[in-house]
Amino acid sequence: MSTQTTQAQPTTILIAGATGMMGKKVGHALLAKPGVTLRLLVRDTHKARQKLKDLIKAGAQLIQGDLSEPESLNAACQDVDAIISTVQGDHDVIVTGQLDLLRAAEQAGVRRFIPSDYSFDSFRLDEGDNYNADLRRAFATMLQQSAVSYTFVFNGAFTEVELSPWGTLFDEQKTTFSYYGDGNTPFDITTTDDTALYVAEVVRDPAYQNKIFRVAGDILTAKQFLQTYRDVTGKPIKEQPLGSIDDLKTLIEHKKAAGAPLNDYLPLQYHYVMVSGKGKLSELQNNHYLHIHPQTLKAYLKAHPD
Ligand SMILES: NC(=O)c1ccc[n+]([C@@H]2O[C@H](COP(=O)([O-])OP(=O)(O)OC[C@H]3O[C@@H](n4cnc5c(N)ncnc54)[C@H](OP(=O)(O)O)[C@@H]3O)[C@@H](O)[C@H]2O)c1
Repeated sequence: MSTQTTQAQPTTILIAGATGMMGKKVGHALLAKPGVTLRLLVRDTHKARQKLKDLIKAGAQLIQGDLSEPESLNAACQDVDAIISTVQGDHDVIVTGQLDLLRAAEQAGVRRFIPSDYSFDSFRLDEGDNYNADLRRAFATMLQQSAVSYTFVFNGAFTEVELSPWGTLFDEQKTTFSYYGDGNTPFDITTTDDTALYVAEVVRDPAYQNKIFRVAGDILTAKQFLQTYRDVTGKPIKEQPLGSIDDLKTLIEHKKAAGAPLNDYLPLQYHYVMVSGKGKLSELQNNHYLHIHPQTLKAYLKAHPD
């Protein structure tokens, strides 16, 4: 158990996906640590200079590269100790793109690769349960077979996402709270800020070389989630059970069979993984970094009253 990263290993770290929501947060978390040289892989340096001005001011260097242009990745990986991927996209990005980055990393002798997961335990899911998890598992298999060490970071759902309509629990106006199942199955949530802090730790921690790091800021059932929301905000909100887990599965399969666009059923697939308990994290390692105090839902809501 460590309270700080005393045996910090890699010092030059490349973030792929730096202009994105998680990429920026991970970048700031890394630059708060001593001895880190940070490189940000960006597709468009002109646009990125504006988007990432705080990180650049704090010492990060931009390097141009695109996961869909493999030849652009070799220079980006030179003298890099570890890569943290926070990219988002379809098969071309999550599987083909990350694989091209991994091949460049192997060539350059990069020692650690954290792929873009930051989610529930995708290894516990079956093919087809969740489209995004299928892509991430496909890449994970290739990473595990590569010459580069891996660390998978699993944190359940982002707290912020579960509070947004995308999380499917709340409607846009937060007047109803809907869920499938009996509402009594626990699931994991962690804030984006806390997840970034953990990523900045594990990437340099030899304890997580070729390991999965699992963490949760809070563990709640749907009913507990709703009760916490009501307790903290005092807002009236209607509880709306929508049916059984089987009903949810049937709805998703029906949408898929009818050729619905992915975005029409992907949020439901995330909901399924959570309320069914299928993606539940076990063997949480919250205690490994005692200086990080991940926010519970209650703490997050109190800190973000809007
Ligand atoms: N557990 C949860 O509840 C939860 C919720 C949300 C996200 N996540 C996960 O967190 C990870 C990061 O998501 P995010 O929301 O931070 O993503 P995001 O904000 O959409 O950012 C995606 C990043 O990927 C970059 N990118 C896309 N295609 C690229 C390519 N071909 N080459 C280089 N860079 C490319 C984008 O660069 P440009 O600026 O150039 O487009 C951007 O920097 C994903 O794996 C996502 O699934 C988890």
